[in-house]
Amino acid sequence: MTTAIIGGSGFSQLDAFDLKQKHSVHTPYGQTSADVLEGNIFGLDDSILFLPRHGDKHSIQPHKINYRANIYALKELGVKNIIALAAVGGIDVPCEPGALIVPHQLMDYTYGREMTFFDEFGDVAHAEFTEPYSAPMRSVFINAAERAGIKIVNRGIYAVTQGPRFETAAEIQRIQRDGATIVGMTAMPEAVLARELGLGYMTAALSVNYAAGIDSGVIEDDDIHAAYSVAAKKCYAILKECLPEIAKLESNVPSLIKP
Ligand code: HPA
Repeated sequence: MTTAIIGGSGFSQLDAFDLKQKHSVHTPYGQTSADVLEGNIFGLDDSILFLPRHGDKHSIQPHKINYRANIYALKELGVKNIIALAAVGGIDVPCEPGALIVPHQLMDYTYGREMTFFDEFGDVAHAEFTEPYSAPMRSVFINAAERAGIKIVNRGIYAVTQGPRFETAAEIQRIQRDGATIVGMTAMPEAVLARELGLGYMTAALSVNYAAGIDSGVIEDDDIHAAYSVAAKKCYAILKECLPEIAKLESNVPSLIKP
């Protein structure tokens, strides 16, 4: 079962990745963020696909990403499950900078993004989205973290904001009142597009800062880079442990509702 990793900010390249092939996929939705790379990571037997969401030079803003082309291309290449890596801001205290979070829910505050494949007249279909993230993938990842002795936050509610700017302190207070524990800019529409095409999807969220106003200071670039390295190290160790098991998982996604 082919697994894809979608890399976020800081993950435009994968460490320990042995590239075998590049796939340039033409999609009805236009260009993917970059060629999809196929190869082996950490010397593991099963090859994986890798797609850097912001492009291989980290040049595509979150609201300009062609999410439909990316997900369509991965489906075309036979992917069953997607591990989406994403930098986020922490709202809840355990989601401090350097933490790695496996959210179980999300809330969408984005606007104006192409967010469905069912866009044509007469093409009515509803994605079942009660649980936006794949439960089997999340539990494989969480168990792998435990085996590897790495502390993670194994639940979280990811608020997806439009960006590219960060939020105001008042916006974060509102998002916090809504119940979110982390905030980022890319889980939507990526997660729902994967669901529409029947792909398993989970996010491993790397907390790189406290969200605006959660602690007293302004958000500084240097602090973000330091926190990113801490979270990325955890993420690599868990990926090494969990990828062989994720390769065995069916996508296990609820079917579309077509009234
Ligand atoms: N807000 C939104 N997206 C983010 C943040 C944040 O604080 N940090 C990293 N991605």
